[in-house]
Amino acid sequence: MNFKRSDFPEGFDFGVATSAYQIEGSDFGGCGRSQWDDFAATPGNVVRGEDGGVACDHYHQWEGDLDLIKAGGFDSYRFSTSWARVMPEGRGAVNQEGLDYYERIVDGLLERGIKPNVSLYHWELPSALLDQGGWRNGDIANWFADFTEVVMGRIGDRVHAAATFNEPWCVTWLSHFLGQHAPGVKDIRAAARAMHHVLVAHGKSVQAMRGLGMDNVGVVLNFEYSQPVDDTPEAIESAHLFDGIYNRWFLGGVFNQAYPEDVLVGLEPHLPKNYQDDFPTIAEKVDFLGVNYYTRSIISPDGTDQFPAHKTVEGPLDKTSMGWEIYPDGLHHFLTWADREYTKGLPIYITENGMASYDTVDENGVIDDEPRINFLNQHMDAVKQAIAEGVPVKGYYAWSLLDNYEWAVGYEKRFGLVHVDFDSLERTPKNSYLQLQKALS
Ligand code: NOJ
Repeated sequence: MNFKRSDFPEGFDFGVATSAYQIEGSDFGGCGRSQWDDFAATPGNVVRGEDGGVACDHYHQWEGDLDLIKAGGFDSYRFSTSWARVMPEGRGAVNQEGLDYYERIVDGLLERGIKPNVSLYHWELPSALLDQGGWRNGDIANWFADFTEVVMGRIGDRVHAAATFNEPWCVTWLSHFLGQHAPGVKDIRAAARAMHHVLVAHGKSVQAMRGLGMDNVGVVLNFEYSQPVDDTPEAIESAHLFDGIYNRWFLGGVFNQAYPEDVLVGLEPHLPKNYQDDFPTIAEKVDFLGVNYYTRSIISPDGTDQFPAHKTVEGPLDKTSMGWEIYPDGLHHFLTWADREYTKGLPIYITENGMASYDTVDENGVIDDEPRINFLNQHMDAVKQAIAEGVPVKGYYAWSLLDNYEWAVGYEKRFGLVHVDFDSLERTPKNSYLQLQKALS
């Protein structure tokens, strides 16, 4: 790698990240059914119909995986808790086996000297709650606060950092307007209401954690740089609206008690009545912002007058195997912009950054993932630059520890620092892991 620990401020956390459904195996340990099981079982939604039933079998192989984190020299591990595992029906009965499991993970990390960083929700909504409308139903904010209390009542005293949500944009717009993720809805009213309810749920969850005496509580948002396809006013306006839906809506709610005007033009008619009354809850004070960053999109007007009236077109830069452009300047942009306009000195963690590449194991068992090493180096340069300019970036988590279930594209897209053979479930560190291990030692 082109960086070492001493290039970063004292106490900077280097970590790796995963999420429950993507690695654990939802077939095990009394886990309830989630919207991802349902979505994957519906033909046409997921490549080859793959699901997270077994995934990386981390539910059974967690000790070896935690050893890999330790051996890699990482300071912290970001993982998530599955709502369906802890409360199989979403409300009411608690699956003690599920709570015991998360407690094992937390204690196992602490025994190894690794700081647990937990996200409460990384997308596996219990099916029973989806049947009641899921994120479209305003009651979900209270259901989520109850789930928060159950989980954090058990592990909240031992976690280093806790986030309410992973990527509210994906929970809402991607899943309820674009229909690409579970529950696969394509409806602007559903999307608008979900975009509000998820933030109310965030605020109530923060309140629940405060009630338990927790600190270092925040939210993880995803950011995508929005590049107009050309310099026409129409393209610039389209790209700005994309930025509004993707980036400014969630930041605006949490940090400024307001939604962006340009987005409200399309969404306000669909929001719950008196939605503004929820802003004090939504803007409950947080201790950090988590930034997930992967790429930029090139935005063009789509020629219609139907909100949002824009589309993404292919860009010219080098791409990952997801087809995503590699654009490290975007990470620098979001760190400096979020600090300047919204978080104003609050700690920022990069909670996810990484790439999928076409990794193969050669005859000597070596996985030469040079593109990933370059990607990490370039993005670390962007982080160093933002820190030098005064942004209080406190940590960086690579996505991901393991190759895992990449949602609607199944197991084919490999984001791991460690390769997983999905037949034998064997783990093999890639060169990127070995290089990071060297840099962090
Ligand atoms: C962000 C999501 O949080 C994670 O679940 C996903 O695997 C990565 N992006 C890569 O797409």
